[in-house]
Amino acid sequence: MRSLLVSKWTKVALFLLCLVPFGGLVWRIIKSNLGANPVEFLQHATGDWTLRFLVFTLCITPFRKLFKLPDLIRFRRMLGLFAFFYVSLHFLTYLGPDQSFSLSAMWIDVAKRPFITVGFAAFVSLIPLAITSTAGWIRRLGGKRWQLLHRAIYFAAVCGVIHYYWLVKSDVRKPLFYGALVAILLLWRLAGWFSKRRSQAPVRVAAPRVSVSG
Ligand code: HEM
Repeated sequence: MRSLLVSKWTKVALFLLCLVPFGGLVWRIIKSNLGANPVEFLQHATGDWTLRFLVFTLCITPFRKLFKLPDLIRFRRMLGLFAFFYVSLHFLTYLGPDQSFSLSAMWIDVAKRPFITVGFAAFVSLIPLAITSTAGWIRRLGGKRWQLLHRAIYFAAVCGVIHYYWLVKSDVRKPLFYGALVAILLLWRLAGWFSKRRSQAPVRVAAPRVSVSG
C-alpha cells in the first residue's frame, strides 16, 4: 500500500481523476447537452463538486490517523486546490451569466441574498489558502501559523453547507447529508485538539506541606 501511495503515478492518476468532472462539463458544453437551463446546470454541478472536494480534503487527516496511512498527506494539497478550482468555476458561472460580469451588481446581490453572502464568504476564505499552499509559503509563515490559517477550510466547508441549505427550496436531504459529514469531521478534529492540549498541559505537583509549629 505504501509504495502505491508514494508513487508519482498515483499522484498523476489522482490529478486526472480530479479533472474528470471538469472534462464531463466541457464535453456537455461542446455537445450542447446542459438541459433546459445551462447556467443553472453549470452552477449546480460546480457547486456540488466544490463541496465534495472540500469534504475529500477534510477526510485526509482522519483517514491518515484511522488507517495508519501517513503518506495520504501527499494528496491533501491537490484536493484542496481542486476545491478552489471548482469554486472558481462556480463563482465565474455566477459572475458571468448571472451578473454579466458587473462587480457592482454582484456586490448588491452579495449584500441582499444571505445564501450568496455566505457562499461568497466561503469563497473569499479559500483564497489565502490557495495562495499559501506552496512549500515556500509554509516556510515563510512557519508551520504553526500556516496550520492555523489553513484551519479556515473548516469555516469554508461550514459556510458551503449553510449556503447550500439556504438555497434549496424543499428537499434538504443533500445539504443535510453534507452538513452531517462536515460536522463529524469537525468534531473529530476538535476532539483531537482538545485531547492534545490536555496531554500537553503542565502537570501540577503539590508542594510539600511545611509545618510552622515545627
Ligand atoms: C465554498 C464555496 C461554495 C460552495 C461549497 C458552494 C456550493 C454550492 C452548491 C452545493 C450549490 C447547489 C448545487 C445543487 O443544487 O446541486 C450551489 C448553488 C449556487 N451557488 Fe454556490 N457554493 C459556494 C460559493 C458560491 C459563491 C461564491 C457564489 C456566488 C457569489 C455562489 C452562488 C451560487 C448560486 C447562484 C447557486 C445556484 C442557486 C440556485 O439554483 O438558485 N456559490 N452552490
